[in-house]
Amino acid sequence: MWGGRFAQGPSAIMREINASIPFDKALWRQDIAASKAHVAMLGACRVVSGEDAVTIRDGLDAVGAEYEASGVPEDWDLEDIHMTTESRLAQLIGPVAGRLHTARSRNDQVATDFRLWVRDAIDQAEAGLQALQVALVMRAGEHADSIMPGFTHLQTAQPVTLGHHLMAYYEMIGRDRSRFHDARKRMNRSPLGSAALAGTGFPIDREMTAQALGFDGPTANSLDSVSDRDFALDYLMAASQCALHLSRLAEEFIIWASQPFGFVTLPDALSTGSSIMPQKKNPDAAELVRGHAGRISGCLVSLMMTMKGLPLAYSKDMQDDKPPVFEAAGLLALSIAAIAGMVAETKFRTERMRGAAELGFATATDLADWLVREGDIPFREAHHITGAAVKLAESRGVALDQLPLDDLKTIDSRIDERVFNALSVEASVAARKSHGGTAPDQVRLRVAEARAALGLEG
Ligand code: ARG
Repeated sequence: MWGGRFAQGPSAIMREINASIPFDKALWRQDIAASKAHVAMLGACRVVSGEDAVTIRDGLDAVGAEYEASGVPEDWDLEDIHMTTESRLAQLIGPVAGRLHTARSRNDQVATDFRLWVRDAIDQAEAGLQALQVALVMRAGEHADSIMPGFTHLQTAQPVTLGHHLMAYYEMIGRDRSRFHDARKRMNRSPLGSAALAGTGFPIDREMTAQALGFDGPTANSLDSVSDRDFALDYLMAASQCALHLSRLAEEFIIWASQPFGFVTLPDALSTGSSIMPQKKNPDAAELVRGHAGRISGCLVSLMMTMKGLPLAYSKDMQDDKPPVFEAAGLLALSIAAIAGMVAETKFRTERMRGAAELGFATATDLADWLVREGDIPFREAHHITGAAVKLAESRGVALDQLPLDDLKTIDSRIDERVFNALSVEASVAARKSHGGTAPDQVRLRVAEARAALGLEG
């Protein structure tokens, strides 16, 4: 395609290091679509004849049909998907194929194809995340009243409801979706027609190709258009943040499934056995989601390092932009699907969770709050009194609400029998009805809002 000024062909090493076809063949659909939009525009603008434009369009369809039927051939001599397609087109329709590359370069071509690909990846992630949110909301609705220990430092802190805990992830995933949405909006401009770097002297219509490809309009600067990959980085940043969230939920499933916790029974379909220990049921899918978060953020760092310090305009380093994005997209799609399956199918062992909430003096704050409310005692003093009560209960091996009233009274005479109404885990969660708090009524409100936002009936 470019041999005119060369006396010698490339060495074997040159061909191998240069070839991107092994991975950028994944862009074939976008490449055909962008080429069809380009040639239709060239025809409409009379840069090529209407007849040639139709011949080329039909030829592109034929190449696409071949790829669909038998895959994209990998010939290193043809470097990349763009040259592979153009070369096959020439075999099919003859020299008129050479008119397709008028007023464009592989630089704007790859920038266009890659944007289209990332845009599709965003749409795919969005759909998966919406399904995950639906699963979270359904399970949260079932468990608005189910009590579990809430933790800080993974130490029992205060009782919460399982519905509240699940809705925390609903919120995180909602912000992840909005990050993808922002990235999509920002990247949705067409670089096509920027040509190699400076634009073109042919009378082209960039609005027309932008519209044909679903972009909001053409990009404003040809140098920027062929040089930046911030759209891919935006995607990888959103993907990394999302993967971090998924990894935290994965980790909770792993902890909850361990025998000392026993909070959940993970679905068999998303677990594996051990080849030596017959009793084992391992949370491998959750562990891999946790692991994939590391690889996905590695992809982000990889592309950031590729782009760092590159002068304008295109440099071949940028060919390395695709593998990390393709890798991250595949890992993210799997992670979202695995977590959604776990959320939907996991059996929550609510009696175990409630039992654990009874341990660890989870309602100690409720005793302190009661002293503040009923005894008009400053919170710091109430905290101290409660500490003494916890110490006593601990030494006797009983829960706070199992201490006899007389013993509580020796700690502080202002305590009376009404305190027991505040010390149960049910009373504790029911009391926390501040906006966004863990009280079952609050959780039901949030679930109803979420169902409406997701377009679920009722
Ligand atoms: N395969 C190349 C890439 O992905 C296409 C652009 C090549 N442009 C160039 N000037 N060599 O980056």
